[in-house]
Amino acid sequence: MSQHIDQASLLAWFAEHQRDLPWRTLSDPWPILLSEILLQQTQVSRGVVFWQRLFDRYPTIQSMAESTEEEVLYLWQGAGYYSRARRLFQLSKVVCSPVENGGFGGVLPTAAAQLESLPGIGPYTAAAVASIAHGESIACVDGNVKRVMARQKSIKQPSEKEVQQWADDVLWQPDAGAWNQAVMELGATICTPKSPRCSICPVIESCTGTTTPDQYPAPKVRKKKRIDLMCILRIDANGMPELEQRDDSGILAGMWGPPLAETFDIEGMEYLGEIQHVLSHRDMHIKVWRSECEQGVDPSSVPLSSLDVKLLALADLH
Ligand code: ADE
Repeated sequence: MSQHIDQASLLAWFAEHQRDLPWRTLSDPWPILLSEILLQQTQVSRGVVFWQRLFDRYPTIQSMAESTEEEVLYLWQGAGYYSRARRLFQLSKVVCSPVENGGFGGVLPTAAAQLESLPGIGPYTAAAVASIAHGESIACVDGNVKRVMARQKSIKQPSEKEVQQWADDVLWQPDAGAWNQAVMELGATICTPKSPRCSICPVIESCTGTTTPDQYPAPKVRKKKRIDLMCILRIDANGMPELEQRDDSGILAGMWGPPLAETFDIEGMEYLGEIQHVLSHRDMHIKVWRSECEQGVDPSSVPLSSLDVKLLALADLH
C-alpha cells in the first residue's frame, strides 16, 4: 500500500546533505537563473566551473546586456549547447531595455508566467527561478523529478501530465524552492539512474519501486542519429585556418569553426583523418582534408566548440 511522501524527512535530508553549490547561498535571481540554464544540459561538476566563470564576468544581468554575444559565447566555450548562451544574451538585452520599449527596465520578472515569456526560458527554468529566488508556490519538473516520481509510484512510462500532477500534489507550499531543490537533489544523488542508494533514501517508506528501480522509468531505446560530414581545413602561410561563424540554428549556432558540409570537392587535397564527436542525440563523423587559403583567422580570437577544437587539432592548430 503506497503512502504519502514524507515531506519533513526529505526536507531534513536536504538541509543536511545538499551539495555545496555556490549559488545556493545567493538569493539574487540572476545567478540562480544562470545555474539553472547551465545545469539543464551540463553535469553539476562541470556546470559549477562554467557558472563561476560566467558569474565572475557577469555578476549582474546588466553586465551581460552591456557585453557582446561573441564574448558570452567565448566564455561558454566547452559547455556545449551554445544556443543557450545566445538566448541568455538575448534575454539580458530584453530585460535591460526600458519598459517603454517593451523591456523590464533591468529587473528580471519574478513570476514564473512572466519569466516564461523570455528567450530561452521554458516551464522548468521559470518554475525553478520563481520558486528558489522568490518562493513562488510552483512545482518544477525535470528528469530527476520524473525518475523519483516513476519509482515512488512504480510507473514505467509516466506521461508528462502524470509527472506534473504528482509534482503539484507533493509540493511543499511553505517553501517551494527548498522542496523543488530537495526532490531534484534526491534524484541527482540518491535516486540515481543507475544503482540508486535506496538503503539511505529519506523517502523509502512511500516508495513502491525499490525492488526493480531500473525499470522506473523504463529506459528509452533511442539510437543516436549518425551524421557524416566533410570538413576542409584551409590554412594560410602563417598557419592560421579559415574559420567561419556557424549559422543561427543547430547546436553549434554562433560558434566559429572550419567549413563543414555534407560534401565538398576535395580533389587534390591532403586527407588528414576522421574525428568522431558524440552528442546526446547525434553521433557525428567528420572526415577532414587540408588545403590553403589567403588569410586565416587566429583560433584563439574567436569562440570555438569542442568539436572545432578537435578538427583543428588534426592539423596541430589548437
Ligand atoms: N538540477 C538542476 N537544478 C537543480 C537544483 N536547483 N537543485 C538540484 N539539482 C538541480
